[in-house]
Formats: sequence, C-alpha cells, structure tokens
Amino acid sequence: MTQRFATDVLIIGGGVAGLSAALRLAGPARVTVLCKGDIASGSSHWAQGGIAAVTDPEDSFSSHVMDTCDAGAGLCDERIVQFTVSHAPRVIEQLHKWGVQFDQIDNEYHLTREGGHGHRRVLHVADATGKALTESLWHKALDHPSIELFSNRVAIDLINTSKLDRRANRCAGAYVLNRRSGAVEVFQARFVILATGGASKVYLYTSNPDSSTGDGIAMAWRAGCRVANMEFNQFHPTCLYHPHAKSFLISEALRGEGAVLKLPDGDSFMHRFDQRADLAPRDIVARAIDHEMKRLGLDSVFLDISHRPALFIEEHFPTIAAQCREFGYELCREPIPVVPAAHYTCGGVVVDHNACTDIPGLYAVGEVTCTGLHGANRLASNSLLECLVFAEVAANEIAKQIDTPFQQLNVPHWDESQVTNSDEDVIIAHNWDELRRFMWDYVGIVRTNKRLQRALNRVELLKQEVHEFYSHYRVSNDLIELRNLINVAELIIRSALNRQESRGLHFNLDYPEALEHANDTILFPGAMEHLELLRPQVQPVS
Ligand code: FAD
Ligand code: SIN
Repeated sequence: MTQRFATDVLIIGGGVAGLSAALRLAGPARVTVLCKGDIASGSSHWAQGGIAAVTDPEDSFSSHVMDTCDAGAGLCDERIVQFTVSHAPRVIEQLHKWGVQFDQIDNEYHLTREGGHGHRRVLHVADATGKALTESLWHKALDHPSIELFSNRVAIDLINTSKLDRRANRCAGAYVLNRRSGAVEVFQARFVILATGGASKVYLYTSNPDSSTGDGIAMAWRAGCRVANMEFNQFHPTCLYHPHAKSFLISEALRGEGAVLKLPDGDSFMHRFDQRADLAPRDIVARAIDHEMKRLGLDSVFLDISHRPALFIEEHFPTIAAQCREFGYELCREPIPVVPAAHYTCGGVVVDHNACTDIPGLYAVGEVTCTGLHGANRLASNSLLECLVFAEVAANEIAKQIDTPFQQLNVPHWDESQVTNSDEDVIIAHNWDELRRFMWDYVGIVRTNKRLQRALNRVELLKQEVHEFYSHYRVSNDLIELRNLINVAELIIRSALNRQESRGLHFNLDYPEALEHANDTILFPGAMEHLELLRPQVQPVS
C-alpha cells in the first residue's frame, strides 16, 4: 500500500533556497522538506566564494546592478536585478539572525572580490561559505516543530489536479521514491515549492554534487511549465585538474586576491582576452582557457597565488589549500593545474517576481529557476543571493493564501502493476555516461551547428531507450535521474540551436557575433511534440 503524507507546503530541495523558504513559512504553515541525500547533497553546501551584497558605504546598489547586467550580456531583467540587489542587505541581516557569522575585521564584514565585480562586495565564511550557511539553516529547520525533513527521497513527478479529475489545474504534491525502501510514496500538499538546484551533471565534468540532475526543471516541464534560457550553461574557469579530484572548485576569490592564470611556461594570458584580465566575467575567462588549451594542446592551465604570503593564503583559503595538499599540490608555493567545468544552470523554470510558475500552487526558487536575474551569464556570488531573496518572496506569497479553504483531493496511488524489476541496469549506466560525454564534447564552451545537431540526434536515440525502460521497469534513482537529464539535455540543445548568435555563455562558431536585440529563449511545453514521449508512462490509477 502506498505510504501517504500530507502537509501545507511541500518543498522539494534542502539547499539554501529550500531551507530558507521553509524557515520563513514554518509556524503558520506545516512544512515538509525533501532532499535526495543529506545536508551536503545540494550545491549550496559546497559554495565557496560567498554572497554578493552591498554593505560597504563606498559601494552602491547601482554599481551591483550594473555589474550584474554587464555580466548578463544584455539579457538580465533590470527590474528583477534591482529588486534582488536592493534586498541583499535584508537577507544578510536575516542570515545573521539565523546564526551565520560572516568573516569580519574590526567589526566590519571582510569583503572579497570576484570576476565581473567592480567592488569588493562578497561576504563569506573563509572559503566554505556554503557549509556555514547550510549548517545553520539545516539545524534551525531540524529544531523547528513545524518542519519535517525527509532525506533519501527523490521526487519523480508532480501531481496536477487536471490529470486527476479535470478540475482547474493546480499542483497538489508529488510522487516520491524512497531511496532506502525502494517504494514510491505520495506527498500531498496545498502548495509546492521546487528548490531542486541546477542541472550541471548533464556534463561529464562538473563542480556540482551528484544531485544536480535538473530534476525540478524536467518535472516542471513535464507538468506544463515554460522553461527559459537553457542554453546558458556556466562553466567555472578554475577546477582542480587531477584524475581523482572530481572537479574540485578553486574559488574565484583567489583571483580576487591576486591569483593569476598562467600557461605552462609561466606566461600570464588573460590580459590578451579582456582588459579586466583575470577578473573578467566567467564566460570570458572560461572561453579564454578553452582557447589556450586547444591552441597549445594542453591538459590544463595553471593558477598561481604563490606570490602572496603563505599565512594569508592559509587563513583565507584553508579548505582549498587542504584539498590541494591532499592531491599533492602546495597552493602557497606553486601554481596549481586548473580546467573549466560545468558549474551553474542560468536558465530554468520560468517564474514571475513572486516566484510563481505557470501552474497555480507551484512555486520555484533558486538555481532551478529562470527569474531574469542572471541573463546570459551569472555574476559570481549572485546565486546564493537569488536563493535567499526569492525564498522570502515565495514564502510571503504563500503566507497570504495559507488561511484560504482548501478542497481535499483523492490522489491515486502509484501503479506498478504493469512493470517488473529491471534486469539490465547496465543500460542505464551506459546511457548516463554517453549523454554526459556528448554534452561535454558537442554542447560545451564552444559550439557549432553541426555539433549541436549531432547531440540532438543522439539525445533522440537515448530518449527512445529510456522511454522504453521507464515503461517496463520499476523506477530506480538512476533511472529517474537519467530520464530527467535526457529531458534537460534536449531543452539545452534545442535552446542552443534556436539562438542564432553568440551571447554570454552561449558561443557558436557559426554565429560568432551578438545580434543587436537580445531575446530570451522561452520553450513552451506541447510546442515540441517529441518531448511528449518523456511523459510518465506508469500513469497513476484511482
Ligand atoms: P541546491 O543547493 O543544489 O539544493 C538542491 C536540493 O534539492 C538538494 O537538497 C537536493 O538533494 C534536492 N533535490 C534535487 N532533486 C531532487 C528530487 N528529485 N527530489 C528531492 N530532492 C531533490 N553561488 C554563490 O552565490 N556563491 C558561491 O560562492 C558559490 N560557490 C559555489 C561552489 C560550488 C562548488 C558550487 C557547485 C556552486 C557554487 N555556487 C555559488 C552556486 C550555488 O551554490 C548554487 O547555485 C546554489 O547553492 C543553489 O541552491 P539551491 O538551493 O537552488 O539548490
Ligand atoms: C567561487 O567561489 O568561485 C564560486 C562563486 C560562484 O559560483 O558564485
């Protein structure tokens, strides 16, 4: 018998977006938070550099707005940028109340600088800001009597009322796999917030943890939401290059403190690509590294901060220095090998300024969304800020409606009568690898029409195979994630093919220039018939 849970607000995702929304709502509302793993399963836990916020009197909101829009290459929604930037000091204050202690010197925040920022404005907790944030929020949530946290749960699909009994469409919860028991459970809710993070696992090399498989984007798309700007995949310029380092991030804050990118012969090169040199926005730096690696046939370039005092490096970057040491590199004494890796999904589920998606009752917050803040390229350290600002917005919007009467639904159980256990899991593993490899090779930092078309052909084949698998076998964690990754890969490729120009993070050799007018790429569900194939085959029955 299907296990059922009921709550006021179901939050799918326990990163900074999900947890901060939960803390804002709990009390007046009963809140349930789901996450795939534990506290460290989302990107939030691994954030290094910090949060961008204007706190220095020498800095200004207009400067932060300008830097964000400049990095965003003409595609930022300026009203959203202004809104987010001007709310930053408030969310910092709230974090302080939740117990986060940002680094200070003489009672002033210690501010770092990252690429594309005209001022030092990044608040941080050494080089492990995400860990400090998630630990505070997670423990606050665990202690809260109105919040229930469920780990090891993977949401499979959203429950829409229109699919149940033709009443006006509304999101009413989700079907969720319990990773431990293997059973599919029903989580019913009056409001649902998607806070599932990004989709960078669609690429072979990524700075992201395993949870970033674009589940929220794929679920929202299948449920009927618009998705936008999926071609803008941010590659972080500097991840440690080592066979066992799994793309460990080397924070941009190092370059903010003077680290220089170098070729193997010790020559710096970024000044040849942009006058801001090593502190140019990420798209420019990642492309420059890619260019130099291809031109010289290199496995990596190098990042050198060894000219700064060892004490300073150890104090400001203890986590990074320790990780480098584990892999045999002395950050204080030598240049370390670095390569770009997929880092952030700028596009996502379309939301308005209240974090509402196209489906009533369904909200989305954090990296899963496309709010208009990042445009064609996110400015460093604006993501945690977006998570916190839009979590508050979503919570306020839901709080306004929490007392309205609500009609109870009879949600069907998950029907497994037509499926059996898979006896060929090797296919799933193989398809995972194949997808991530061709996305890296054909849909990476530099694209061409031919490569994109090749990727589309391959994704079509994988889609058929996974569709077949999904129709005949019981769902597993890997199958759910693969199905979502394939969905997201197709959205990325089609968006990239659609954009006949180069802008921000999307660079296509066949259209190397930007068009005069910048437009968002908005995909409408149903407008691409072939994507219907990925809709769930195991339909719930009453
Ligand atoms: P996440 O933190 O990724 O959380 C997603 C949550 O959803 C997880 O709990 C996951 O388990 C859960 N989940 C996913 N799918 C499902 C599902 N199907 N069912 C149930 N649960 C699900 N940004 C900055 O602004 N500053 C930085 O310094 C910075 N540094 C970074 C360093 C690294 C190494 C990385 C990877 C990213 C960094 N970023 C930084 C980006 C930033 O950390 C993320 O964009 C942000 O934390 C995303 O938060 P989120 O809450 O939206 O998602
Ligand atoms: C970093 O510390 O370089 C990551 C910052 C970010 O992704 O915003």
